Amino acid sequence: MTTVADPAGLVLSVESSCDETGIAVIEAGRTIRSNVVASQTALHAASGGIVPEVAARAHLRWIVPVLDQALADAGASVDDVDAVAVTYGPGLAGSLLVGLNFAKTLAWVHDKPLIGVNHLEGHLYAAWLRDPGTDRDESEPVFPLVALIVSGGHTFLVAMSDHLTYRLLGQTVDDAAGEAFDKVGRLLGLPYPGGPAISRAAEAATDHDAAFPRAWLGDSYDFSFSGLKTAARRTIDEARAEAGLPTGSAAGLEPDARLPEDRIAELAWGFQDSVVDVLVSKTIRAAEETGARSIVLGGGVAANGTLRARLAGEAEALGLPLIVPRPALCTDNGAMIGAAGARRFAAGERADLSLDARPSLPLARR
Ligand code: KG4
Ligand code: ZN
Repeated sequence: MTTVADPAGLVLSVESSCDETGIAVIEAGRTIRSNVVASQTALHAASGGIVPEVAARAHLRWIVPVLDQALADAGASVDDVDAVAVTYGPGLAGSLLVGLNFAKTLAWVHDKPLIGVNHLEGHLYAAWLRDPGTDRDESEPVFPLVALIVSGGHTFLVAMSDHLTYRLLGQTVDDAAGEAFDKVGRLLGLPYPGGPAISRAAEAATDHDAAFPRAWLGDSYDFSFSGLKTAARRTIDEARAEAGLPTGSAAGLEPDARLPEDRIAELAWGFQDSVVDVLVSKTIRAAEETGARSIVLGGGVAANGTLRARLAGEAEALGLPLIVPRPALCTDNGAMIGAAGARRFAAGERADLSLDARPSLPLARR
């Protein structure tokens, strides 16, 4: 039984914390009436990573067209919505400010309540989203639950006993899992972002011998990926030296200056196997130790097929349902902010126009 009221009405939600401009209209906290995302991935591919100044300018360029499309898709106007929800942290300050000021202006001009949402809470609440026409209780997360959120900026395990109630079990002490994928992707000369590229390369691996270290960190629920990244760099350098290629990053190199495809596939597989092994083992142990009744997986790295499949297999062996949003809801989007914002709105929360961007906003304490 939950103690937080069920959301009702329509929420317009705005996400701009990193490199996606997302605006959505969410009904009753769960149903996606519209969800429009303008991705900057192609824009940042040339530099091999996000340039904050470029990201903020792109948000400014796209936020109005994204709003127009989100309202058109939902068949609604701003006057029809009951509240405006917006990400206010964590994220890039310049990017956050664009969405935040935009949402504040909409709320003020149309006299709508403003709800501030933590981006990480948004990733968790993606698990409650459903497409129109889906059965009401199909795949609803059940409390208490354990959630693993793995993205380009964050990696953490959290326990939830009820809505909006979080206990941090562990988090990365250095790189986020997605960041490690992106860095190793660069070392292998794969296109940006490295996550999907490594995952595709690993699928082609026929040789499953590459062994990379796992950072277990004792019995803590924390994660560390910097040692793995260093090991990957060393192994890749050795392979490149063996193949008579220069060592160091292979980013931007022509295919014939990269390792042979089968070698890339094998190394991508070994790296991915190490990351997935640690993520799955810690999540399953946390679910068992906290007596969870369901498991939630979210964040951009949850688009990884191997991670999804392995966690699903182990959760099923424990008799626990695993809720993983479809990939477009795992990466940054406005709908997830609407799902969390609607829950906060139903709980009576309201922000005022002094709401400020919090680049390092935490989700929860231990
Ligand atoms: O959640 P997200 O869109 O943005 C952040 O809030 O960070 O996550 C982006 C991250 C990137 O690091 C990207 O490489 C990773 O998610 N990613 C993947 C896959 N698809 C995206 N990592 C591994 N396998 C994938 N299939
Ligand atoms: Zn995110």
